[in-house]
Amino acid sequence: MSIIDQLTELERQSQQRGIPIVGSAKGAWLLQKVQELKPKKILELGTANGYSGIILGSAGASITTIEIDENIAEEAMRNFTECKINAEIILGDGVSIVQELAQKNKHCFDLIFIDFAKRQYLPVLENCIQLVRQGGLIIADNISFDGCQDYKDAVLSHPHLKTDIIDIKDGLSCSEKK
Ligand SMILES: C[S@@+](CC[C@H](N)C(=O)[O-])C[C@H]1O[C@@H](n2cnc3c(N)ncnc32)[C@H](O)[C@@H]1O
Repeated sequence: MSIIDQLTELERQSQQRGIPIVGSAKGAWLLQKVQELKPKKILELGTANGYSGIILGSAGASITTIEIDENIAEEAMRNFTECKINAEIILGDGVSIVQELAQKNKHCFDLIFIDFAKRQYLPVLENCIQLVRQGGLIIADNISFDGCQDYKDAVLSHPHLKTDIIDIKDGLSCSEKK
């Protein structure tokens, strides 16, 4: 049974409780990406209850994921443990934590998944480019939201990125660092 099928009940509960997870259609696309790229280290901005983190970590990567809400982060940790995902949750504001990680200059991620406060996508972009390895991916969710337009324009025209827009539901962007 694929991890997407195993997460059907968590998806159903999340929808019922209004937790805005990526869901199974985008989840299947993310799963295919991690199976192709075989990332070892993943950074996620916006953990929620761990639904996307479980998919991203399901091919064996270690995942560092940032969440501002302590209660939902506790749920995520329980879900990661249950699914045997190698995950560390950093509690706090994604913008400042990503800046701190970039300043330390010792982290190199194979894949970064951005799925938190929509208007904060652009402010984290340059730090994410610094944190991802060459050939690695920066994937952002909900890219057709109004609040993400400045980020979308920036990744499509950025000299260090090659970006595709993935037309599933409200869209994802997938930027490879040149
Ligand atoms: C769309 S949900 C994440 C869904 C998750 N990626 C999934 O698909 O399973 C966005 C999450 O980002 C968190 N968040 C919002 N603003 C944040 C911030 N400034 N820093 C860190 N997390 C934030 C919210 O609490 C929420 O849980």
